[in-house]
Amino acid sequence: MRVTADVVFLLDVDNTLLDNDRIIVDLRRHLEREFGVDSADRYWAIFEGLRGELGYADYLGALQRYRSDAEQGGPDDQPLLLMSSFLVDYPFAERLFPRALEVVDYLGRFGPTVILSDGDVVFQPRKLQRSGIDALVIEGSEAGGHIGAVSTAVLAQEILPAVREVPIFVAGGIGRGEAVLAYLEMGASGVQLGTRFVCATESIAHPRFKRAFLRAAARDAVPSPQLDPRFPVIPVRALANAGTARFVAFQREVIQRFDDGELSREQALLQIERYWAGALRRAVIEGDVENGSLMAGQSVALVTREQPTREIIEELLDQAIARMQGRDAASPPVRRAAE
Ligand SMILES: Cc1cc2nc3c(=O)[nH]c(=O)nc-3n(C[C@H](O)[C@H](O)[C@H](O)COP(=O)(O)O)c2cc1C
Repeated sequence: MRVTADVVFLLDVDNTLLDNDRIIVDLRRHLEREFGVDSADRYWAIFEGLRGELGYADYLGALQRYRSDAEQGGPDDQPLLLMSSFLVDYPFAERLFPRALEVVDYLGRFGPTVILSDGDVVFQPRKLQRSGIDALVIEGSEAGGHIGAVSTAVLAQEILPAVREVPIFVAGGIGRGEAVLAYLEMGASGVQLGTRFVCATESIAHPRFKRAFLRAAARDAVPSPQLDPRFPVIPVRALANAGTARFVAFQREVIQRFDDGELSREQALLQIERYWAGALRRAVIEGDVENGSLMAGQSVALVTREQPTREIIEELLDQAIARMQGRDAASPPVRRAAE
């Protein structure tokens, strides 16, 4: 059954629900007080550089880079590592804007209200959790669609042991029941699967879209390529096709026009961003598998035939139960990467 809503509210976290500027001020003060202005300045320079590269805040990544710089001859600032405990214990709940949660509740009366977040991989879940969320989905880079940089296995190891207060659902690259079981045993409350269900009988995806899934191997599901770090591309994992190849040529052309002064940076960024607009619909609904976006996760290799949703779920359960009982469940054949 498909459930649709006329209105959906999408809310950002930083500086929308949460006073992130205030958090940055507190952190800056803490760094300067504990470690001195020079160390603090160096940390922020690295943090901003990394944010430019990645497109999202990565407090710990900046800290790691800071430490490796220090190890390669810079000053010894090991105490700066204590900054992570400052953030872990930081009272994020007190930095919510007044009545922010009431607003979330209020909007919820008119339609599904979703909090979107692409913040720091370790601290963002804590911020959200202390802001009163009910559950978290953590999604690794094996997933189909928009992805981050970190694999599901690593995210799960980082976050499942660290966040106990809210249920966590693990997503990305899950195609068999044994994997479901493994994440449950690691402390997940559940899992979220997308790719495995694209070829369900009930799925409205175009037959050509489904056929592309049935033919694909894991290595065919690749993140959208980025040509130039000055023009970051938010990566989307999809089956490579003619549209993907043209995207590279298109970026090259737009960047050349920027270098020649024909386009401003904003215009160039916008053109690159717009390349895939409407592309998922073109592929899924219209069946244009050459030019549309064939969003697919690496578990596409485990999608071997069209089958009812009920059967897929039963298969996953059988595999998990068989593993618990110490025997192997029957497996559909998996396509080899070389095929
Ligand atoms: C064809 C396709 C379309 C998707 N579209 C969206 C989307 O519009 N919004 C979204 O948040 N996630 C989207 N996803 C991600 C799924 O919600 C889910 O988190 C993901 O597929 C889980 O990883 P898996 O593909 O490895 O199972 C999409 C995934 C696929 C395969």
